[in-house]
Amino acid sequence: MGSKVTVENIIGMKGKRKIVVITAYDYTTARICDKAGVDIILVGDSAAMVMLGYKDTVPISMDEMLVLCKAVSRAREHAMIVADMPFMSYQVSVEDALYNACRFIKEGNADAVKVEGGREFKHVVEAMVNAGIPVMGHIGLKPQTAPLWQGYRVQGKSKENACRLVEDAIALEEAGAFSIVLEQVTYEVAKTISDTLRIPTIGIGSGLACDGQVLVLHDILGLYEYSPKFVKRYADLSTTMLDALTRYRDDVLNARFPGEEHTYHMDVQEYERFKEMVGMMRERLKRERNGMDDKEGLADE
Ligand code: KIV
Repeated sequence: MGSKVTVENIIGMKGKRKIVVITAYDYTTARICDKAGVDIILVGDSAAMVMLGYKDTVPISMDEMLVLCKAVSRAREHAMIVADMPFMSYQVSVEDALYNACRFIKEGNADAVKVEGGREFKHVVEAMVNAGIPVMGHIGLKPQTAPLWQGYRVQGKSKENACRLVEDAIALEEAGAFSIVLEQVTYEVAKTISDTLRIPTIGIGSGLACDGQVLVLHDILGLYEYSPKFVKRYADLSTTMLDALTRYRDDVLNARFPGEEHTYHMDVQEYERFKEMVGMMRERLKRERNGMDDKEGLADE
């Protein structure tokens, strides 16, 4: 697949070819994503739900995200790795934001971080970029704060909201972000932003006009029960896994597994000698047990 994808490569793809982004959170699936030739693996905070079973992305911590990021980066040969800054890892202060972003780069081996928010986080993005950390922005539906306010709603339906999204996108570009995720933004607004910016937009539920697309791995593989309208399922792995596990359970219960082909054997002569030795061991054990029984008998008398 060649060398690692860089920030420069990603920016250079705009207007030439679409950018392929997928989430992954562990070594095994990240290896497959990398082999498939995706450009960016996003260690998304959607891990909160699909990996850790939280009800939304709010509770996941830096330490939890770092474990996942390290696993993904061990698998990567080609793709760029972007780590999602979890809720409250960059909101408290710029110092906090720099410290946590730095942990993803130094400990997690990520190449860049992603930050949810528009104009209100321009100074944070600027500080990270000035410190040498590439940043991917994220506007439109913001899953970290949506459940706390209005819920999960498509963004960019009214002209006022549409204008705010364009202004947010421009602010992030000015701050030095190298790309921006547009989540559940109307096609018209996503197209306007994509046509206005020099950096690429990565859409999720925002239509075909974006410069790239991102989806959650568990959604495209059919591993997670709920998936929104914008998801295309490329496989039904939960049915495949359920079938495999049910057959495994039945094989174990009915002694059909392990078969001869899964079993290791001793050399025949070694086994003969082993049986003689076991015979002697058993004889000795019998004598010792009988001796103990005799002593116990005397003690009882
Ligand atoms: O956490 C995540 O997976 C994301 C994508 C949905 C863009 O932020």
